[in-house]
Amino acid sequence: MTSLPYSTTIKSLVTEENRLFFKQWLKSPIQLGTFAPISLKLAHLAANQLDITDKTTIVEIGAATGRLTRALLAKGVNINKLAMVELDQTMSEFLKASLSDLYQSKAQPNVIHGNAEALPELLPTSWIGKVDYVVSTIPLAYMEETMRERIIQAALDVLNPETGSILHVTYSPVSPIKFMEGELLQKRAVSLWSNIPPGFVWRFTPKHYPHDFL
Ligand SMILES: C[S@@+](CC[C@H](N)C(=O)[O-])C[C@H]1O[C@@H](n2cnc3c(N)ncnc32)[C@H](O)[C@@H]1O
Repeated sequence: MTSLPYSTTIKSLVTEENRLFFKQWLKSPIQLGTFAPISLKLAHLAANQLDITDKTTIVEIGAATGRLTRALLAKGVNINKLAMVELDQTMSEFLKASLSDLYQSKAQPNVIHGNAEALPELLPTSWIGKVDYVVSTIPLAYMEETMRERIIQAALDVLNPETGSILHVTYSPVSPIKFMEGELLQKRAVSLWSNIPPGFVWRFTPKHYPHDFL
């Protein structure tokens, strides 16, 4: 398990990330979906949904300033097996710099500035079909159905076709891809009603799997 330096470093990082998040939200409110990073509690509950070994390969989409990323790393995710995709360039630069500071001895964090709709082109070819989890905080609920479908399809295209699943963190108690129920089993794995606003973690699993993960 990786231990984070929970010190003044992390406190000032959180202050800085809140400030940057709010600033970027003023510029692109729909893209960000919310004016602040997710709560620590929701981030840790989401991270707890993953079965982690040192080999578990994870792609986080909509990583923003890294609140959930840090919860994943604290849970034991191998930083070399984690790719973080973010559409906002300033946020992706912030994320890369903050992780490099926190994990000085580790390899360069794999932060990718790009659109999750093009996930198969953004990742190294050796990752395609080997990803155990795509973890999303992209505000799908605010997007057009066709865009939501393209993002989910791109995630499915990189997942391990037999065992991979998508975890989606949202403030919507209703699945934002309910219309894809024909292809995907959809289960609300976490309901944190005390969060402001209430937060939920959805698990989406292809229906063709030989066994049921839900
Ligand atoms: C709710 S915020 C993410 C919260 C963050 N993960 C946290 O831990 O607090 C949503 C993020 O998704 C990003 N985003 C939106 N559409 C995207 C896309 N198509 N590809 C990649 N990132 C996207 C936004 O720029 C924003 O940073």
